[in-house]
Amino acid sequence: MLNTLVDGQDFKLGLFAPNCSGGLAVTKVPERWSASWADNLRLGRLADEVGIDFILPIARFVGYGGETNFHGSVLEPIPWATGLLAHTSRVVVFATVHTAFNHPVVSAKQLATIDHVSDGRAGVNIVAGWNQPEYLAMGLDLPTDHDDRYAMAQEWWEHVRTLWTCEGRIDLEGRFFSSHGVEAEPKPLQGTLPVLNAGSSAQGRDFAARNANYVFTIIGDADEGATLTKQLTETARNTYGREVGVMSPAHVVCKPTRAEALEYLHYYAEENADWDAVDNLMRLQGLHAQSFTKEMLASFRPRFAAGHGTCPLIGTPDEVADEIERYAKAGLAGMTLAFVDYVTGLEHFAAEVIPRLEAKGIRVPRAALSS
Ligand SMILES: Cc1cc2nc3c(=O)[nH]c(=O)nc-3n(C[C@H](O)[C@H](O)[C@H](O)COP(=O)(O)O)c2cc1C
Repeated sequence: MLNTLVDGQDFKLGLFAPNCSGGLAVTKVPERWSASWADNLRLGRLADEVGIDFILPIARFVGYGGETNFHGSVLEPIPWATGLLAHTSRVVVFATVHTAFNHPVVSAKQLATIDHVSDGRAGVNIVAGWNQPEYLAMGLDLPTDHDDRYAMAQEWWEHVRTLWTCEGRIDLEGRFFSSHGVEAEPKPLQGTLPVLNAGSSAQGRDFAARNANYVFTIIGDADEGATLTKQLTETARNTYGREVGVMSPAHVVCKPTRAEALEYLHYYAEENADWDAVDNLMRLQGLHAQSFTKEMLASFRPRFAAGHGTCPLIGTPDEVADEIERYAKAGLAGMTLAFVDYVTGLEHFAAEVIPRLEAKGIRVPRAALSS
C-alpha cells in the first residue's frame, strides 16, 4: 500500500485530536465535538474518502476541568487507531504513546499489530510527557529534570526499534527499562512506522531531529514557520545526517463569507468559550511544557479558546486556501486541521478548499497519487 505520508510529493493534511471531547475548541456550544466512537468512525471514513493523509490523536488521561471538562472523554489512541484502520483503506492513522506510561515491549507489539491490521498504514506519535496531573494519576512523579523525560523517551524508542529488528529472543538493559528473554513478532510490515514527535523545548526538538519523520511544532504564523523549518532541517541534517519535515497544527473556521466566519468564531470561542478550562490548560502548559513561549502564553488566550493555541485558518475558502499556501511556501511539510464539528467542517473543507489547493499545485489529487 502507498503510504502517502512519507512520499514527499506534496503538502500533507491531517486531522488532529478528534478522539478528544471538544477536539481543539475549548467551547460550551452544543454542537461541540463529542468524540464518540460513532462520530470518529464517520469522520475516519470521510477522511479516507476525501484524501486526508493522516489522523493524529491526543493521549490524554485527565480532563482540563471547566464547565465542559474539556478533554474529559478521550478514546485511548491504540484501540481507537485499530478500529479506524480496520474501517478505512487509505488514510494513515497514528497512535500517540506516552513513553513514561507504556512499556516498550508492549508498545512494540501493539504498534506492529495495528500496522498488520491496516496493511502498513499505522504511525506513532511519541510523547515524552509534560502533564503533571497525568503522572499523579499513574502514581508517578513528573521528572523535574526536563532532560530525563527525553532520555527516557530516547531509550523507549531505541528499545522499540531494536525489538522491530531483532531475531529470536533478546535481553535489553537500560536506565529506565529492562527486558529479559523478549521475543517480538510480528514486525511492522515496512520494518518501522512513520514517527511524529511534538517536542518543543531544545531537548524536544533535538529528539525529533534525531528520531522523527516529522516534528510537530506550535508556531505563531507562516514567517515563524519558515525560520523554524530552516533551523530544524539544518539540525537534523548537520547533527544526525537525516531529513525531517516540519508540521504545525491549525484550527479552521471556513464559511462562504469572512463576516460569517468571524461571527462563528466569536460565537464559539468568545461568547461561549469555556474560560475556566482555557485557563487550566494554559496554566498547565506554562508550568510543565515549553510548547508555547512566554509571549505566546501572554497573548494567546483567545487562540487557546478557538483551537488550543494552534494556527488560525479563518475566512472564506479562498482566504483559507491562501493562508495554507503561505505555510506551504514557508517550507512546512503539512498541517493538521481541527473543526468545532469535524464532520461538517471537513465536508465543507473538502468541497471548497481542497480543490483550491489542488489548483494552486500544493496538493496532488489523491486519485492521481494512487494510480
Ligand atoms: C501536535 C501536538 C501533539 C501533541 N500530542 C500530545 C499528546 O497526545 N499527549 C500529550 O500529553 N502531549 C502532547 N503534546 C505535547 C508534546 O508532546 C510535548 O510534550 C509538549 O509539547 C512539551 O514539549 P517539551 O517537553 O519539549 O516542552 C502534543 C503537542 C503537539 C504540538
